[in-house]
Amino acid sequence: MTATPVLSASNVSMVFGGLTALSEVSLQLHEGQILGLIGPNGAGKTTFFNCLTGLYTPTRGTVTLRGRTLPSDPAAVTVAGIARTFQNIRLFPSMTALENVMVGRHSRMKQGPLASLFHGPAYRKGEADARARSLELLDFVGLTGLDDELARNLPYGDQRRLEIARALATDPAVLLLDEPTAGMNPQETEAARQLIFAIRETGVAVVVIEHDTKFIFSLCDHVSVLVQGQLLVEGAPEVVRGDPRVIEAYLGKPPDEVEAEVRQYAEEAGRPSAAESTMVIPPVRERDGGSEGGNR
Ligand SMILES: Nc1ncnc2c1ncn2[C@@H]1O[C@H](COP(=O)(O)OP(=O)(O)OP(=O)(O)O)[C@@H](O)[C@H]1O
Ligand SMILES: [Mg+2]
Repeated sequence: MTATPVLSASNVSMVFGGLTALSEVSLQLHEGQILGLIGPNGAGKTTFFNCLTGLYTPTRGTVTLRGRTLPSDPAAVTVAGIARTFQNIRLFPSMTALENVMVGRHSRMKQGPLASLFHGPAYRKGEADARARSLELLDFVGLTGLDDELARNLPYGDQRRLEIARALATDPAVLLLDEPTAGMNPQETEAARQLIFAIRETGVAVVVIEHDTKFIFSLCDHVSVLVQGQLLVEGAPEVVRGDPRVIEAYLGKPPDEVEAEVRQYAEEAGRPSAAESTMVIPPVRERDGGSEGGNR
């Protein structure tokens, strides 16, 4: 792990009218790291992603990627090297799986408007390369052979994988995943965990928001806990999950109940079946995606 973080947020605050959604939140993500961001509903997790990706301009604070301050412009942030998926899946439903990934790839294509206008050799080569890379990514996320399927016809878990493939097509240094296993069954959740490990192996650092703490604690190197817009605790998973402040303020359960769950987790951690039972932190209200920002 290098000393200079790949992604750094310093004292990020976000105020909506009278509501402080984020207050002085700092986070450092290092090369090769998988960082988990947890917290109750409304804690500000998605808002934080929106601040990292230029969808929102933080009221205060800065975000840097490899030491360079990021602009408040989602397209420019993508080009700089941050990709994301959304809490509510955002695919182009009437496009095929392959086309959806190629949309992500286009952010990396260098052909100017004239090349695409005349469909010259440079354009055709660019398209062929984009297609080949996109097919590779479909394979990588486990969607081999589904390239011609319309996105809307894919099962829910596959749509989540497709969104990840599209994000990876932008060649990011950092991937932000907002609740990538929401609505998945235990097998799909375990497959998603393995996929995130594989993504890290390719040299992409990852930040994951999830409510499923077992998933987070068995996946991440570092966990940050947001409560009411403030960073409550951060550190190694084994430290965070036993922190009395997290137990009291976030888990909201009697300490002995939490202790039992932690013991059960520790017992199961080495077994392949560990991911098959999930501990989802209540209360989980229906997803409304209200803070995912506009369509920029
Ligand atoms: N554009 C906005 N305008 C006004 N308030 C907003 C906006 N975006 C987010 N908020 C508010 O900021 C707070 C944090 O919301 P956010 O969606 O970031 O929480 P979250 O931690 O992602 O929750 P969940 O786990 O339910 O997804 C909430 O009170 C929300 O209503
Ligand atoms: Mg959210």
